[in-house]
Amino acid sequence: MRIPEHIIDQIKATVNIVDVVSEFVQLQKRGQNFVGLCPFHKENTPSFSVSLERGMYKCFGCGKGGNVFSFVQEMKHLDFPSAVRDIAKNFHIPIPEETVADPSGEIARSESAFRALHTAMTFYQNFLLSESGLQFKTYLINRSITEDSVQKFSIGAAPDEWNSLLRDLTDKGFSKNHLLDAGLIVVKDGGGAYDRFRSRVMFPVKDSYSRVVGFSARTLSTDKTQAKYINSPQSLVYNKSKVLFGLDIAKRAIAENRNALIVEGQVDVVMMHQVGFHNTVGTSGTALSENHIGLLRKHADKITLIFDADDAGQNAMTKAIEVCLAGGFEVYCVKLPSGSDPDSLIRNGGLQTLKDLVAKAMSWIRYRTSQLIDQGKLNDSHDKSKALHTMLDWIATSPDKLRHPFLLTELAQTFEIDVALLQSHFYPYHPNLREKKSMLGERWLHPEDIAPLSPPPPVILPAEALLLRIGIIVEHSLEMLLHQFRIDKHNLWSIAGQNIFDSLNRASDEQHDITSYMLHDSELSQVEREVVTNLSKPFEKVSPMWESHFDVEMPVLDYVRPCREALTRIDLRRIEFEKSQARFQIRDAVDYDEQRRSLIEYNQHDQRHADFLNAYHNYATSKLWLPAGTQSES
Ligand code: CTP
Ligand code: MN
Repeated sequence: MRIPEHIIDQIKATVNIVDVVSEFVQLQKRGQNFVGLCPFHKENTPSFSVSLERGMYKCFGCGKGGNVFSFVQEMKHLDFPSAVRDIAKNFHIPIPEETVADPSGEIARSESAFRALHTAMTFYQNFLLSESGLQFKTYLINRSITEDSVQKFSIGAAPDEWNSLLRDLTDKGFSKNHLLDAGLIVVKDGGGAYDRFRSRVMFPVKDSYSRVVGFSARTLSTDKTQAKYINSPQSLVYNKSKVLFGLDIAKRAIAENRNALIVEGQVDVVMMHQVGFHNTVGTSGTALSENHIGLLRKHADKITLIFDADDAGQNAMTKAIEVCLAGGFEVYCVKLPSGSDPDSLIRNGGLQTLKDLVAKAMSWIRYRTSQLIDQGKLNDSHDKSKALHTMLDWIATSPDKLRHPFLLTELAQTFEIDVALLQSHFYPYHPNLREKKSMLGERWLHPEDIAPLSPPPPVILPAEALLLRIGIIVEHSLEMLLHQFRIDKHNLWSIAGQNIFDSLNRASDEQHDITSYMLHDSELSQVEREVVTNLSKPFEKVSPMWESHFDVEMPVLDYVRPCREALTRIDLRRIEFEKSQARFQIRDAVDYDEQRRSLIEYNQHDQRHADFLNAYHNYATSKLWLPAGTQSES
């Protein structure tokens, strides 16, 4: 039901954002505002600021900001209406329900279905706890499912009767149509109806807002002619490929780890949670779909697949890898001991084995390779080439192009072949992958635009030195580079530059004195440490204005431009390098086709170079480009 606009306005006007935030963050008054440690990223010095007057919050570290609603949405993983309701409830603001136009009656029908399903869940839970539910309780105990888990997953049981649920829910006012919409009964040709689920353990399937949308029901019988599980049919409220079992319970742990563990069965999910893997969800035996992983995108970057160790499970896992890669996730796989699933492994004393396997989950490349070896499908060059082609295709589907070079490197290492060979096969087949964005005013090249073929220059570039120097000397500049500019070490080109950037990151995480940490960082070479010594000298030739500007608490704009300048110069070097490489390619082409391809490529590089210079020129001359004293860098 829609929440009336005026209620939203009323909440904005009357709810004190400091009260709302204080529930999660210890705030201190500082001037007009309140400050505290940001709840959205890890930090040791407060950069999270709340303005009572404006009803807004903002983190200068990670950049997150917004109003009461977005704060509650983020903290409690809620959608907007739920956040509004949540706040309204806490502050005792009544929400009158507005009626919604519902010409087809579907909204009303869905709501009745939800209510019927919820009522059914309670009915099954009560039955499990009653005396007649004893055999089901015993079954759960024998499977080592604890009372806590029964509670947490709202597990119940359906009586061994034809219409006990039908009777109970009819008494409570639900019509036959309601129950049919909910998938709880089956209607016979003659019009008579009976309970769909009888004499089974009932696992409610809930959506991510904890609404019951269906059931998965397990028989106690070992009779192979009986379906082990009976599931709710697709309905107004249940779409199998859009629900992950346990997501409502697991989503917070998933968000904390940025990692979702996916298993196949309900009991597997329950057991995983029981032994501490709180970030586990299940597919309920259906193939993992794009929609499924879409549900995870908000919470996770990484997916770990833990499917059954039988053929069906392994095939499903292979398909799931593709879906997850195309969905942009980092994918890891766990290969369980043969014949087991997470539940059976845990019950048979394999908990430690499972923990080790999860902790050391294989990258999908290693998993897929070892799977092919096990299946005897990686014996000769033909097999290997076929496997490589398939995996190259999978890599190409991964939307984050910045990951491609790493995946290619890993693949090359796994097969013990030259990475350049793989690259030469990868990029021509995926020309769109090399599409470059030109640097237009606002943005320098993003790491994903960088060609993986460019070898690093042997020495640190002057522009890199400038960038690192600002990072080392100017407080908060690293945060700006990481969170606002969104660069990472790959925006630097030289190995030394990248290493020093890494060291700077570590130093700032460690909250040490940055320079002394870096000067003693054992991961830097002697030469790199010497570079750091030079870089950590304060700007000598700077104008007094520059200095006075840096002597402030909060990030100031004045070093934004030099950083941008430096990044731009690094990119320009790369672009020029790639262009010259492209020229060699034309020269070295072995046949006409290749020559034509190389020529097209060269023209693209040339165009890109021209665009870049043009944009750079416009930008550089648009305003005063650099503060005095830094212009000598080149
Ligand atoms: N499944 C199903 N219908 C079946 C068999 C399985 O819907 N007839 C679904 C269930 O969601 C089940 C999942 O597929 O949890 C995985 O199937 P399987 O591995 O055969 O079952 P387990 O999860 O191992 O079930 P249990 O441990 O209860 O035997
Ligand atoms: Mn099982």
